[in-house]
Amino acid sequence: MNSPINVVILAAGLGTRMKSKRAKVLHRAGGLTLVEHVVNAATAIARPEHITVVVGSQAEQVQAALTQSGVRFAEQKEQKGTGHALMMCRDALASQGGFVVVTYGDGPLLSRATLRDLVDRHATSDAAATLITTRLEDPTGYGRIILGADGEVKAIVEQKAATAQQLSIPLINSGIYCFRADLLWNHISDIGTDNPAREYYLTDIVEILNRAGHKVAALEIADSQELLGINTRAELAAVDRIFRDRKVRKLMLEGVTIEKPETVTIDCPVRIGADSIVGPFAQILGRTEIGEDCRIGACSIVENCKLASGVQIAPFTSVADTQVDANAHIGPFARLRSGNRVGTGAHIGNFVELKNTQFGARAKANHLAYLGDAEIGEGTNIGAGTITCNYDGVKKHRTRIGKETFVGSNSTLVAPIELGDASYIAAGSVITDPVPAEALALGRARQVVKEGWAANRKQKK
Ligand code: UD1
Ligand code: CA
Repeated sequence: MNSPINVVILAAGLGTRMKSKRAKVLHRAGGLTLVEHVVNAATAIARPEHITVVVGSQAEQVQAALTQSGVRFAEQKEQKGTGHALMMCRDALASQGGFVVVTYGDGPLLSRATLRDLVDRHATSDAAATLITTRLEDPTGYGRIILGADGEVKAIVEQKAATAQQLSIPLINSGIYCFRADLLWNHISDIGTDNPAREYYLTDIVEILNRAGHKVAALEIADSQELLGINTRAELAAVDRIFRDRKVRKLMLEGVTIEKPETVTIDCPVRIGADSIVGPFAQILGRTEIGEDCRIGACSIVENCKLASGVQIAPFTSVADTQVDANAHIGPFARLRSGNRVGTGAHIGNFVELKNTQFGARAKANHLAYLGDAEIGEGTNIGAGTITCNYDGVKKHRTRIGKETFVGSNSTLVAPIELGDASYIAAGSVITDPVPAEALALGRARQVVKEGWAANRKQKK
């Protein structure tokens, strides 16, 4: 089959039932926006340049969410219904012929396989359009499919316009259709607004095609879950849970141990290597990639990170936008904000915060420290309570610490500052001047001892 397939994703509505300032398709399930999920599925049947997303409400933000994907956009300035949204693509697509597959941006569970089935079924039939349907125990809210005696689709009746008898029909309109392009574009302008909402309903195209003597076929699928459309936040939460369940199941089948899988939150794009272990209530988010034999401790949050193999993240640790090399150990109760690189075998312990810091291989900061805008050399030890004073109230400055250096407890390193390789900083020092390699620096008042002072004081009273 050589006819081009264009996919149109309708995503211009605000989604009033979400009660949100944000456009519905920008809400997230499984860590991705709803519209990203639909675009991912669409790439099963079309290259990105043949995928058009109709945008309107918060058009700029929706486009921004999809910039990486390479899809095209059409604009629907006023949201006058799903039929009207599709009309916005006619000029760009009518001359291309082939098939037009239409889906809605609020149906994120649709699988790639089902879209392929739809196209295959349509390609081998003589129908003008084929639509996906399923049977729902509770079809409330969906359009109902009216079948003729021949099993073909005669009409779709929207919930608001349906008679009591039609409301009892369990076959619903998924909002996923494959059209013959020529017939779609010839007839789309016949859609009117004769309905209670005064909207251009795309669903009216079914009756219009029938009237013009064309057939509309239905592809009924058994897994109705895939077709769930999101209209409310409660439905969003239900779909999010489905994505999470699927993700942990897939990871477990790939060899990842997940303790109490019902409690963890793992975004769809995350990758985890075999024999890694994820503890209860862990959250692994964004584009995080985790190697083999890692452990993500209970209640830890790892976002947009790259962890090599053998990395241990102890419980209650938050790590974001950070690269961690093999066998490093972080936490418990550590916070690595953004832009860090932690070297092989390094140790970062409890109540240590890192920001924009290169932390060398085998270096240690085991307790209570703030390391910001810093470079810490290999094998260096950062004592408890060490602070890089990176901010002078106006600008940020860097701290450079060499290899095999010993920074005593409670050191205050006033940046910009440089400590040479194998140097020593005495505990409790405030360091404002550079320290050469192999030197000892003390930056504190000399201790004074006054013998008998307490006894004298008592006598005076
Ligand atoms: C629609 C279908 C219904 C189907 C259901 C499946 C129509 C008239 N009804 O109802 O038969 O059972 O989906 O989930 O098509 N949109 C635009 N521009 C608009 C209006 C909507 O782009 O002017 C987009 C929305 O952003 C959304 C999608 O179209 O992604 C569906 O719109 P929605 O209002 O949710 O339709 P439903 O009432 O759910
Ligand atoms: Ca909907």
